[in-house]
Amino acid sequence: MCGIFGIVTDKEKILGPILIEAAQRLTYRGYDSVGAATLKDNGEIDLRKDVGRVEAVSSKYNFSEMVGRRGITQLRWATFGAPSQVNSQPHLDSDGDLVGAHNGNVVNNFELRQQFIEEGLTVRSQNDGETCVHAVERYLKRGYEFIDAIRLAYGDLEGDYAFVIGRVKEDCLYAIKKGSGLVVGIGEDFTCLSSDLPSILPLTRTIIRPQDGEIITLWADRVELRSVKDGKLIQRAPELVTESMDAVQKGGYPHFMLKEIHEQPLVARELLHLLEGSQDVDNVLQQIKNARQFYLAGCGTSYHACLAGSVYFSQLAGKASIPVLAPQFIPQYAPAVDHQDVGLFVSQSGETKDVLNALQTAEKNGMTCLGLANVIGSTLTRTTSFCLPLCCGYEISVPATKTFTNQVITFLYLATRLGGGDTRQLEMIPDLMEQTIQMVAPQIESIAKSINTWNDMYTLGYGGTYPIALEGALKLKEITYAHCEGMLSTEFKHGPLSAVSDGYPVIFISGPQDVPLIVSGINEVTCRGARAIAIGEEDARLRANASDLVLIPKSTPQIAPLLAVIPLQLLSYHMSLLRGYDPDFPRNLSKTLTVD
Ligand code: G6P
Repeated sequence: MCGIFGIVTDKEKILGPILIEAAQRLTYRGYDSVGAATLKDNGEIDLRKDVGRVEAVSSKYNFSEMVGRRGITQLRWATFGAPSQVNSQPHLDSDGDLVGAHNGNVVNNFELRQQFIEEGLTVRSQNDGETCVHAVERYLKRGYEFIDAIRLAYGDLEGDYAFVIGRVKEDCLYAIKKGSGLVVGIGEDFTCLSSDLPSILPLTRTIIRPQDGEIITLWADRVELRSVKDGKLIQRAPELVTESMDAVQKGGYPHFMLKEIHEQPLVARELLHLLEGSQDVDNVLQQIKNARQFYLAGCGTSYHACLAGSVYFSQLAGKASIPVLAPQFIPQYAPAVDHQDVGLFVSQSGETKDVLNALQTAEKNGMTCLGLANVIGSTLTRTTSFCLPLCCGYEISVPATKTFTNQVITFLYLATRLGGGDTRQLEMIPDLMEQTIQMVAPQIESIAKSINTWNDMYTLGYGGTYPIALEGALKLKEITYAHCEGMLSTEFKHGPLSAVSDGYPVIFISGPQDVPLIVSGINEVTCRGARAIAIGEEDARLRANASDLVLIPKSTPQIAPLLAVIPLQLLSYHMSLLRGYDPDFPRNLSKTLTVD
């Protein structure tokens, strides 16, 4: 997700230790590279950066000795452009008069870089943070004032980002916010800004929260906010932060899992912007289209996303695909694959050994191997011929939530494009996710209380909601330690029905097209005393037959499963708490399983 921090002080001093500490306090967001720049009174910019941990890079390049009146530090979480020294941030402009860094994604990075090269600017990296610097430089060179140059650059830069920039021989820093977090801090003899509060709070608790579309100018003794639309001044009174640091890191939520559940609309929006602007999607689609057999391989939650993807490719693009648990790929399919086949290997961490083993075997057999991962720079991203990013930032909680929904959205996007459909209809997903969280939250909390005594339950789905039933069951198992099995709803009568007794919880996830089938499943269990909890869109048949109906907003047969997973994530979260467990760190489980 990257993180930026900038500070403006009243006189030149050693800024290195402040920048190092600020960077360290943003590491929870995840990163692969670190950089720092100071602007000195003599007009020099001191820029030091590289790939690696904050401690290693800052000690190798002696950040602690860096002097200046103004300073910037950045943690980079690679999206496009490999983690490397040249792609690390901050970046200089062509002449070394400007230095800047960003957080977020500029989705028309490729086109803008081409334009800058044609205009004669010096483009050194593939990184979109550099693109932000040149976007401002281009207008300064044409004679515009700094604020106007930023306003024009804002019109050119597509995507979600926050960006800080400074110029030699000035005494201020400028910043702009569009879709990414940015907070301003006000101290006695300095001002600062950061992607998030943890790096500001050790310095000051007086803050201002800029809004999207606002330009911020920081001087040591004052802060100015202007609207990007008309350049006019905006008045905003500073506020005092009273929360503890722990609460602040969790964004005010009691657990990372709840924070990450609530981040789903935001990261979905960022992912959709990135996919729309990506040059690489066509290439991936071409490979999928030409594949003799197309395999989708993953483990745990990522495998459930593969199952959902397989449904989408079939329904929306008429392309059959084979979803497979990665370790089973080796005995079952590897003997039958060759260069005509394509595999998409899916992993949040990009380090799951079971996935890497399958990938290695597939490569040995000549298969074209693509990846889908959240951690860029991980083994999966380095060893596949092309790896799409998930754009979720760091997922701290062991149970995967936002990475799952972004995996599913990636598949939905690819399948829509492959089928020649209109991807603009997917833009409603983030808002629908937000609505879902609002609609289900109180009811799910009360259902959690009422079924919490059970240590055995089922989640059932059909078609597009079958993978969601498996994922919901996995979430419940992971953090409540109860047994929960996810199944195809029609299979329940072939055995598990014998487990049903009075009050036994069976959760049905219904797609809008599958209501009649789900209703017959509901009746099979309710007539034997079960409590049938249905998750689905408003429907009189579900309402009349289920014991409880958890409503999700109306959407499409493909988007509905994506929304239906949210109440299951929340149910597992609340049941975990009721049982006195820590949902972020369940016993015996690890976020990244690097063993066979
Ligand atoms: C571990 C985690 C699961 C996760 C699985 C796959 O088992 O506990 O939550 O789904 O690994 O992880 P990956 O990083 O490959 O998506």
